[in-house]
Amino acid sequence: MKYIVNGGNKLFGKLEVDSAKNAILPIIAATIMCDDECVIEDIPLYLDVIEMCAIMEKLGKNITISNGNLVISGTLSSTSVIMAETKTLRSSIFMMGSILSKYRKAIFTHPGGCDIGKRPIDIHLDGLEKLGLKYSIANDLIYCDASKVCGSVIELSYPSVGATENIMMASTLIEGEMTVIKNCAREPEIVELARFINSMGGKVFGAGYETIVVYGVKSLHGTKFKCIADRIACGTYLIAGAMCGGRIEMDNVDPNFLLPLIVFLRNSGCNIDLFSDKIILENFSRLKSIEKIETETYPGFPTDLQSPMLVMQTVSKGISIIHETVFEARFKVVNELIKMGAKVNVSERYATVVGVSKLKPAKVKCPDLRGGAGLVLAGLVAKGKSEIDEIFHVERGYYNLETNLKSLGANIEKVE
Ligand code: EPZ
Repeated sequence: MKYIVNGGNKLFGKLEVDSAKNAILPIIAATIMCDDECVIEDIPLYLDVIEMCAIMEKLGKNITISNGNLVISGTLSSTSVIMAETKTLRSSIFMMGSILSKYRKAIFTHPGGCDIGKRPIDIHLDGLEKLGLKYSIANDLIYCDASKVCGSVIELSYPSVGATENIMMASTLIEGEMTVIKNCAREPEIVELARFINSMGGKVFGAGYETIVVYGVKSLHGTKFKCIADRIACGTYLIAGAMCGGRIEMDNVDPNFLLPLIVFLRNSGCNIDLFSDKIILENFSRLKSIEKIETETYPGFPTDLQSPMLVMQTVSKGISIIHETVFEARFKVVNELIKMGAKVNVSERYATVVGVSKLKPAKVKCPDLRGGAGLVLAGLVAKGKSEIDEIFHVERGYYNLETNLKSLGANIEKVE
């Protein structure tokens, strides 16, 4: 599948931001910790969500979609998470914590995910070992035994999002035991996972801060839950509006989750109005470059918006230096952008972008999820017909992307 984009249109209109992919995925894993029915409302069918559900079904969970809600129930018939889907899906590793919490034994393969770096799981395993996990690795399989677990004080060597989530889940059902997790990730999606676990009767406190305390409970019960909006998808649409020009309104989103981006967009020359649950962006002039952009863990500028922001700099007036501090290989999209006339030089974790007045249409290929989204933005501003191939990467994390952009006035079609 590919997108055909005829760039040059301004964007006008409003979008309702879908629920957050990176909140839904660990929450789906957390439903393993209870057999009762859990309902996750208004579920966007990102490809990653579909793959996560496929793994859950193969493990024995009952999964249905009813009236746009994801309904999950039942007990696992297997705790061997060894299937093709785990090789493409990083978030399959989130099941390690939830399965060990409830079933105490599991076999995993090393997870896959976007090719943006080595993506080790040492921080996950170190933390789980401190809870009492015993594991061995043979032929790329991780044999886990958590039959003897107890509460612990765990200090993460880096505020890893996935490791924070895994350890939070692994300690949830260690009945009567307290676990303290220090140097945690503070992303809004971490807070959502804690809110979900607590809605099932768990006791997780401090999520969103650098220390989380989990009081282990005996069991959890079913729940009904609606996730926060996807701040990265919202930020991507805002950058599209800034680059194309026009006026767009993003509804159902808390602007507090996107403050570093909002500052950059305002400094680039955009008018932005903020409300408690929506963001309105307006721009009708050429953007000014942001001299220095550095990705950080939350609440800093998010690595997942680095590629869209890099693309914005390729057509801004001036020079921008982008420092990617989170992942070691997140500039793969640059080679494709250069085919469109972008002036970008990459040296290790730095990209230097010299803005050009316009990009030219081209045939390009998505290297990963956020780089692919960046290529769509580039196609939207390049006057003429661009072909963006291997869009399965993009559909992993953007739901109805072409429909949404078309509703704002973009000329984009999805074709075989
Ligand atoms: C989550 O990935 C997100 N994925 C990523 O979003 C996001 O970019 C990332 O957090 C950072 O915000 C999901 O939530 C499904 P990390 P995760 O563990 O958990 C290193 C997207 O585009 N590290 O915080 O894998 C790691 O290599 C995706 O939606 C270790 O060294 O991120 C990386 O350099 C991409 N050892 C850094 O930490 C470990 O054990 C951040 O990784 C774990 C991580």
